[in-house]
Amino acid sequence: MKDFIESPYVRDMAKTTNNLYRHGWDERNGGNVSLRLTKEEVEAFSGTDKVLREIPIKFDASELAGKYYLVTGTGRYFKNMIDYPERDMGLVRISDAGNRVDLMWGFNDGGEPTSEFPAHLMSHIERLKQNPNQRVIMHCHPTNLVAMTFTVPLSSKRFSRTLWKMHPESIVVFPEGIGVIPYMCPGTNEIGEKTAAKMRDFRVVVWPHHGVFAAGDSLDETYGLVETVEKSALIYTTIQQQGGVILQSITDKDFRDLIKRFDLKPNEEFLTPDAATELVK
Ligand code: 13P
Ligand code: ZN
Repeated sequence: MKDFIESPYVRDMAKTTNNLYRHGWDERNGGNVSLRLTKEEVEAFSGTDKVLREIPIKFDASELAGKYYLVTGTGRYFKNMIDYPERDMGLVRISDAGNRVDLMWGFNDGGEPTSEFPAHLMSHIERLKQNPNQRVIMHCHPTNLVAMTFTVPLSSKRFSRTLWKMHPESIVVFPEGIGVIPYMCPGTNEIGEKTAAKMRDFRVVVWPHHGVFAAGDSLDETYGLVETVEKSALIYTTIQQQGGVILQSITDKDFRDLIKRFDLKPNEEFLTPDAATELVK
């Protein structure tokens, strides 16, 4: 039996965190990722059958008791994760009481899960209610999207419609739109609760002046979701650099064509334009 370090899960996490770093979305220790694995997936590899350490967590995660997560460590640099996966990530199992995790692999220099782990677990709980295939929570700092939170009113509808209008792929990839919460202190249960509440309706939640939380069935899909949001934010930024005057854009009729062509179930509330959320006046 192969050791867990040779599993596709460690390889995919190392690859994804490296891509996040190379994209410039995870400077220093910025960003964190958690990937849910099943018991069978974990047990197919050696080195995962005994508890190495018990690590307390500061909220009740009993709804996830027995579930396994491969998670990035707090303070760890994404640029290094590809070279030191066993140091910079860990495989944990949520305890029955939900107040600690059992470390099964990794964090071999005494490390611990990301400071945003409560926000991850709360978001996993909410997304699992919406989608039994939910696997990934990804937090990162995409530059253009974060910049927009200084210049665009902090409204989910305003952000969603603006990003939808930047590229036809946007409404196809995130037809429900994206959620925006107020600015809050990171690393707290409060920001986790607010994020998870938004995750009821959205797979992408914007943290103003900070970054994004995204959810999905796989690392690739979740990464692709963030990539698409950030691409639209980059186009928005570039428009501002070109003087910011929008003469023409994707119209509501164009949205209808995309919905029909790709059989989308978009957020109906966001489909209705109103004066406060319009890009082209
Ligand atoms: P961690 O190093 O604890 O994962 O924190 C990084 C971060 O981006 C906090 O929001
Ligand atoms: Zn962050």
